[in-house]
Amino acid sequence: MAGSGQLARRTLSGPSWVRGSGPAVLNRLRDAAVVQPGFLTTAEEETLSRELEPDLRRRRYEYDHWDAAIHGFRETEKSRWSEASQAILQRVKAAAFGPSQTLLSSVHVLDLEPRGYIKPHVDSIKFCGATIAGLSLLSPSVMRLVHTQEPGEWLELLLEPRSLYILRDSARYDFSHEILRDEESFFGERRVPRGRRISVICRSLPEGVSPGELGQPPPAC
Ligand code: OGA
Ligand code: MN
Repeated sequence: MAGSGQLARRTLSGPSWVRGSGPAVLNRLRDAAVVQPGFLTTAEEETLSRELEPDLRRRRYEYDHWDAAIHGFRETEKSRWSEASQAILQRVKAAAFGPSQTLLSSVHVLDLEPRGYIKPHVDSIKFCGATIAGLSLLSPSVMRLVHTQEPGEWLELLLEPRSLYILRDSARYDFSHEILRDEESFFGERRVPRGRRISVICRSLPEGVSPGELGQPPPAC
C-alpha cells in the first residue's frame, strides 16, 4: 500500500524540515519538536512585520556580551496587538497550546540581524512553562536541538519564513536549542543563507504560577 510505505519512510527520516541524529530521537520527539511550514500567509507575515518594525527600529542591535545567549539582536515584549495580529496569535495558541495552558501575557519579539545568532540554551524553567511556539519572519534559519546529557542526540529544524515551530516537554526541557550563525547555517548538506530574521515567540506560563506572580522575565526567558 503506497500510503503505509510513505508513512514508514516518514517515521524513519522525519518530514523534510526536521533532521536528526537517528530514527529513535526523531520518533521520540515527533510531537515535541514540530515545524509547520507555511503557517502564515505572505499577507500575515507582512501584517506582523509592518506592525513590529516601528517598535524594533527604535532599538539598537546588541553584541558582544560575553555571557549572553544571543548576539546581534534587538527585542521587545509586546502585549498590545492590532486585531489582525491578534487573530494570527490566536491561531498559534490553538495550534501549539493545550486548553489547560496559560500563556505569558506578553509575546517576545526577537529581531536577529543577518550575522546575529542564538547560542545553545534552555529557556528558564522559572519563567516559562512546557511549551514554546515561534513564528519565523523574513529569513530562513536553522534551529539545532542537542540533548543536554547525550550530545550525540540532536535534531535540526529548518525554519523557513512563515513557518511555526513548537518545542514542548522533552524538546523544551532535555534539549538545548540554538539558531545557527550564517557561517554554520546548514540543514544537512543544504546551505541556508541567513538574512535578517524576526521571530514572534509565545510561551506558556509555568504550571501552578499565576501571571502576576512572575515579575519581569529576563530577555531570553
Ligand atoms: C529565545 C529563543 C528562538 C527564536 O529567545 O530564547 O530561543 O526563534 N529564540 O528566535
Ligand atoms: Mn530560547
